Amino acid sequence: MELIILPSHDVDAVAARLVADDLRAASPGVLGVATGSSPLGVYAALERMIAAGDLDLSRTRAFALDEYVGIPADHPESYAAVIRREVVERLGMNPAFVRVPDGRADDLELACAEYEAAIRHAGGIDVQILGIGANGHIGFNEPSSSLASRTRVKTLTRATREANARFFDDVADVPTHCLTQGIGTILDAQHLVLVARGEAKAEAIRQAAEGPVSARWPASALQLHPNVTLVIDDDAASHLE
Ligand code: F6R
Repeated sequence: MELIILPSHDVDAVAARLVADDLRAASPGVLGVATGSSPLGVYAALERMIAAGDLDLSRTRAFALDEYVGIPADHPESYAAVIRREVVERLGMNPAFVRVPDGRADDLELACAEYEAAIRHAGGIDVQILGIGANGHIGFNEPSSSLASRTRVKTLTRATREANARFFDDVADVPTHCLTQGIGTILDAQHLVLVARGEAKAEAIRQAAEGPVSARWPASALQLHPNVTLVIDDDAASHLE
């Protein structure tokens, strides 16, 4: 695991450079995208590279990590809508090449199996952008998730629903379930680039990098992957030994 600790304002550009290098090497490549606040600056930095003619993602495929169950696809906070806004439109990607798990499917288990198959069919993910929850979740793999898990339905913890309530009018409006790539799915990507900022993430980062590998802190499973880069700011690094 490589740790890159930077002043906060440098995190996005450095993470974006790593992602862009992988995608240029794999051209057109397969990108794994996350939602939440952490990767937004990375997408903005990639957008600047594209505007400068240094990167072209028009033929790149992308797969999102997760989606809420039961949220209308046109709800502004559905991950399908967020990915359309923040990734597809900003990065000039082909919407037909970008997939988000289908949280509206009649048969959610089938939707999960099809999602796994689609990733395999695309040749696997070359580089996966990750954020991390304060409780150590990656994707929506909450504590106690199997470290070998695949894409499936999960219940969101109260803590995660409260953390995400900022995107909704009220915590009661935050869906209770989600579809998420499993930890095993995430670990299949060639390169994992995790971005974290702020003291609130410091304990999760410590457990991810230095803790025992344990389902108690799902991100600790990243220690099992040969090619992980944590790009974090000084505050997120503040609990490291
Ligand atoms: C989102 C996701 C989550 C977030 C995590 C951190 O697709 O998979 O694991 O990355 O909840 O969220 P932020 O970045 O908003 O702190």
